[in-house]
Amino acid sequence: MSASSHRIVLLPGDGIGPEIVDACRPVLAAAFPTWEFTDAAIGWGCWRTAGDPIPAETWRALESADAAIMAAITSKPAREAEAELADHLRGTGLTYRSPVLQLRRRLDLYANIRPVEDLLAGAGSPASSLDDGPAPTPSPRFGFTVVRENTEGLYSHDLSMAGPDSNGLWDVVKQDPTVTHSTRADTAVALRVTTGFGWRRLLRTAASLTGRAADPSLRRVTVADKPNILRESGAIIRDAVDEVAAEFPDVDFEIANADAVTMRLITSPMSFDVIAAENLLGDILSDLGAGLMGGLGLPSAANMGDGHAVFEPVHGSAPDIAGRGIADPAAFLMSAAMCAEHLAARGEGTGASTRGNSAVPDTAGSRGNQASPDTADTGGSSATTGSDLRERASLLRRAVIGVLRDDPTPDLGGDNTTAGFAAEVARRLAS
Ligand code: NAI
Ligand code: MG
Repeated sequence: MSASSHRIVLLPGDGIGPEIVDACRPVLAAAFPTWEFTDAAIGWGCWRTAGDPIPAETWRALESADAAIMAAITSKPAREAEAELADHLRGTGLTYRSPVLQLRRRLDLYANIRPVEDLLAGAGSPASSLDDGPAPTPSPRFGFTVVRENTEGLYSHDLSMAGPDSNGLWDVVKQDPTVTHSTRADTAVALRVTTGFGWRRLLRTAASLTGRAADPSLRRVTVADKPNILRESGAIIRDAVDEVAAEFPDVDFEIANADAVTMRLITSPMSFDVIAAENLLGDILSDLGAGLMGGLGLPSAANMGDGHAVFEPVHGSAPDIAGRGIADPAAFLMSAAMCAEHLAARGEGTGASTRGNSAVPDTAGSRGNQASPDTADTGGSSATTGSDLRERASLLRRAVIGVLRDDPTPDLGGDNTTAGFAAEVARRLAS
């Protein structure tokens, strides 16, 4: 790995985002001293003042950077979006479009990779607490990866039937039993766009992430869908599964009902390696994974395309705690570690490519966590001498896991602050 510098765009965004980024700047500088950071504006503030949640200069920065790390974004429904615009912009016909969806579409970030790792290894399940729960055990209770389709599926089109231009959809739905009791103005239709192209590339990414589950004997992609109900789009997905399965003979592919998968995630999470799902279903399944992990302060995600990568916590802008200095910065720091692993893989020629991001986050699954943080803290690991990105990512991850276990923020039952957490991570990195 060369010492050459990477250009990283930081997107603080809204709510708890800026306070997390400010607290974590010294950590990032210590963890990745060769990175050049540039801040770029994004989010609700940009929408309110300029009518565009992603300013043109932010697009330019993103398009020329090696990667971006985003902290948190606020999105609100159309009516609030219009109401909160600056006076001079209201009524000018501007339409709010979620900046997260815009990024994914325009940068073609088709795979949202969300590792669901047992970072607290026994200490953070919903049924226990850090104070009186069982002592942390080294064996993880789960460890799998959700790969969510990011560019099509049920988030593609959500159309009001009120306007004149409804693309003939009104004719499709107007005889439906509930629609006959309604009006056009009172009806909307969401479309689940499903393409073989979209699914083949998603499934190749999913297959490339197998073999890192908590159960090392697994090499499995579980496609969570509703093929018996959504039959036509389900058939496209099945054809894509057959085609990609032939390319990965050592990976076991299964198509399972998404509702049954949610139950299995609670009753037997160890049976999963990689779960692939369309946009909405993947969104829900990965938040279930966040709950397994112990809360939204923990999980991070990679939005990967063949040419661009944006890393972000799974959580949003948390308006209920914004400004209080108590947001958990762990997910943001773990996103930075994923970014480093991606850049390391890309530098080795195994990262983003037309085959998808085959070597992207090495974080997927829980193996990376099995080394106890204490080992890293006492210098027992070879990574303490490391200077390459992968080793640096691993050091950062271990420092974060250590602070999560020893002195967490209130979301995990502790009383640490955002700044205190970040400072302790920086201290452990330096020691
Ligand atoms: P949220 O993730 O912001 O918050 C949900 C709950 O988790 C809240 O109680 C919050 O305090 C807590 N939480 C989240 N992150 C935390 C952290 N780092 N430390 C401690 N506690 C944390 O989701 P919510 O409330 O549904 O949405 C708030 C805003 O965020 C909305 O405008 C929503 O559209 C946006 N959002 C953006 C996402 C993104 O940027 N990808 C993802 C989810 C929501
Ligand atoms: Mg979500």
